[in-house]
Amino acid sequence: MKHKDLIRKMTLEEKASLMSGKNFWQTQNINRLGINSMFLADGPHGIRKQAAAADHLGLNPSIPATCFPTAATIANSWNAELGEKMGEYLGEEAVAQKVNVLLGPGVNMKRSPLAGRNFEYFSEDPYLAGKLAAGMIKGIQSKGVAACVKHFAANNQEERRMAIDTIVDERTLREIYLTAFEIAIKEGKAKTMMSSYNLLNGAYTNENIHLMRDILRDEWDFQGVVVTDWGGSNDRVAGLLAGNELEMPSTSGETNGEIVKAVKAGKIKEEVLDECVDRLLELIFTTEAVFEAEHKEIDVEKHHRMAQKVAEESIVLLKNEDHILPLKKGKRVAVIGDFAKEARYQGAGSSNINPTKLDRTLDFLDQSGIDSIGFEPGFERYGKKNKKKINKACDLAKEADVVLLYIGLDEVTEAEGLDRQNMKIPENQIELLHALYKVNANIVAVLSCGSVVEMPWIDKVKGLVHGYLSGQAGASAILRVLTGEVNPSGKLAETYPIRYEDTPSFYHFPGKEISVEYREGPYIGYRYYDTAGVKVLFPFGYGLSYTTFEYTDIEVGNESVAFKITNTGNFAGMEIAQLYVGCKSKAIFRPKKELKGFAKILLQPGETKTVTIPFDDKTFRYFNVKTNKWEIEQADYEILIGASSADIRLRDTICVEGTGAPIPYDNEKLPSYYSGHANNVSEEEFENLLGYKVPESKWDRTKRLGYNDTIAQCQYARGAFGKLAFYSISFTHWFLRKIGKRSTANLMMMSIYHLPFRGIARMSGGIVNMPMVDGILMMVNGRFFKGASHVLKERKKVVKSAK
Ligand code: BGC
Repeated sequence: MKHKDLIRKMTLEEKASLMSGKNFWQTQNINRLGINSMFLADGPHGIRKQAAAADHLGLNPSIPATCFPTAATIANSWNAELGEKMGEYLGEEAVAQKVNVLLGPGVNMKRSPLAGRNFEYFSEDPYLAGKLAAGMIKGIQSKGVAACVKHFAANNQEERRMAIDTIVDERTLREIYLTAFEIAIKEGKAKTMMSSYNLLNGAYTNENIHLMRDILRDEWDFQGVVVTDWGGSNDRVAGLLAGNELEMPSTSGETNGEIVKAVKAGKIKEEVLDECVDRLLELIFTTEAVFEAEHKEIDVEKHHRMAQKVAEESIVLLKNEDHILPLKKGKRVAVIGDFAKEARYQGAGSSNINPTKLDRTLDFLDQSGIDSIGFEPGFERYGKKNKKKINKACDLAKEADVVLLYIGLDEVTEAEGLDRQNMKIPENQIELLHALYKVNANIVAVLSCGSVVEMPWIDKVKGLVHGYLSGQAGASAILRVLTGEVNPSGKLAETYPIRYEDTPSFYHFPGKEISVEYREGPYIGYRYYDTAGVKVLFPFGYGLSYTTFEYTDIEVGNESVAFKITNTGNFAGMEIAQLYVGCKSKAIFRPKKELKGFAKILLQPGETKTVTIPFDDKTFRYFNVKTNKWEIEQADYEILIGASSADIRLRDTICVEGTGAPIPYDNEKLPSYYSGHANNVSEEEFENLLGYKVPESKWDRTKRLGYNDTIAQCQYARGAFGKLAFYSISFTHWFLRKIGKRSTANLMMMSIYHLPFRGIARMSGGIVNMPMVDGILMMVNGRFFKGASHVLKERKKVVKSAK
């Protein structure tokens, strides 16, 4: 232990007091020992430091900070160095705002395109997500503050996010859902990790010994601090035993008391607590050192320009028929679409940044050199079809050579706490597009959203530029791509399926009651489409440029693969070359190929460069559930170099020596996994993969409600009060939506409807404690008066002890 002497001076109560927040964002300080409190703030793509009223939903304002592109956007840059640079800027802003821990990046996998926080996450591929996160973490931490990689782990839906149990087999867990975290910890050296709200295979993640001890501490040698997601602690003592140092936010000392009691009763050794205190102290001391230097304001303009640079490298050109882009000089352009007026540049929820400034397309048109003949909104962002607006837009379009159409998803659709209901963009925007097409077929669409959408309308546009959620400088970055000032170089970090029904988790997303079963196993994203031969709209890794590239001369060695790329067009440009590896042996089921490396190279017209992508510990490994270790199968492996996952330009084969582990599966019992057609696996086959019986996934509606049941479950409560509460909430939700208050309705869903009863205490900062929750439970379970008097009695006790 590093801080033995200091810990020796602490009382048991003082040690326990450090194990949870003193308020919503800060940890406890102990002045007599010179221990200051730390400030934790969201993240991930900017600093959300709330100086006054605090919340984890992005409601109350925060101090202005640069809003960089969200993770889903920067992932398209495939540039870990750029991520690192952006991390440095974030770190600098964290220092300037005296934030010790920046709550990001988030590296969860995009299992379903509908998951509500996809805009905050990087990719459907763990290798790409891990590398980008590691870069960002290095950048943030280079300034002396800590990054917090989140949400660990298998937290891939928002529905019932605080209560859902993720059922996933060990190999899929390791290969798909943990690898990005592993890279973030081992390569990025993240100092803190946030446990997720959900359960993983039956245990809350922060109490999950296998996840927290066996994997995180023992295998990955994580020396840092685990912090719970806000309000996500269930059994505090169980969490501590698993090595969860910090519970956030404050519970006004209630759970610290539980720790003290457990130590006194011998349920937990004081040394376990000491180790947690030691790691927390180390974090406090190392991160606060940076605040001692003279206070420095950030250079707002410089940071804005960095946000623009990140956006420029992340924009993806998806279609460019007849070379409609870049826009030719002198072309008369009609700018249409509400999103041109008010850019959509970030998602809703805890990551919501209060930007230092915000670029607007209409303000930058002149400067960009575009010959604009006018602007028409064409649709209402939150409204229904508007014939008048469509007509006006068509009148303008008729006069133009090219129509620039700004479309996308609105702020309410992509929000933390809520999954999307479908993969479509609003009907009123599509109607506008169809109407415009009739009067002018030269349409370039600019899309703004942080996750995958269906595009049945793709034939109606000649050009398609996907800006994703490109941060506060996104609007100007997009204009620079449209005019050719910037040659687009982003490639998709996720697949665009043709229809939502084609997605591998279609039948098992989201989990609605107790659990969600990851029956598709490792076949998420391109791993599925590629192996099962399902046609997609845009494959993983896809993106166009204004120039063209030729790949030649592959040479595979034992340690790396080398090849040449030539810029064969007329623009300077950057190309993202991707290394995929496919195993030729069929003994162990696997995706047809998997991403194992990538490189981004800048080339002048006519220039050729040799690119070398090294192999690493992940190139040939798979997780063997018999030996419980990473192994290598002795086999021939295809080494594939692609411009996307579907555009393989070079290939070779290499024979790799194996580790000699036994084949862990009986292929007859796992036909869907061996064929890759894993979108509708039977329960029996999934059990064969898991190695045990799938736990009950439906609520037992005859049971009394308990701490971990959610308020939504009051629908089958025994008492009239519970049912009344449920119907009142449901009615209010319905009514709010009806009157167009979608945002408030969503908030209700997230913060009330899906809240477990224990969450009432965990999130109220001590106003409600667990004995009061007992009373509330009595009330909903049919003993209303007894429960109500219990609540009042316990509340009185709290008030009295506070005096
Ligand atoms: C989110 C976290 C966030 C925390 C604090 C939670 O609701 O899941 O990502 O860091 O709130 O705002």
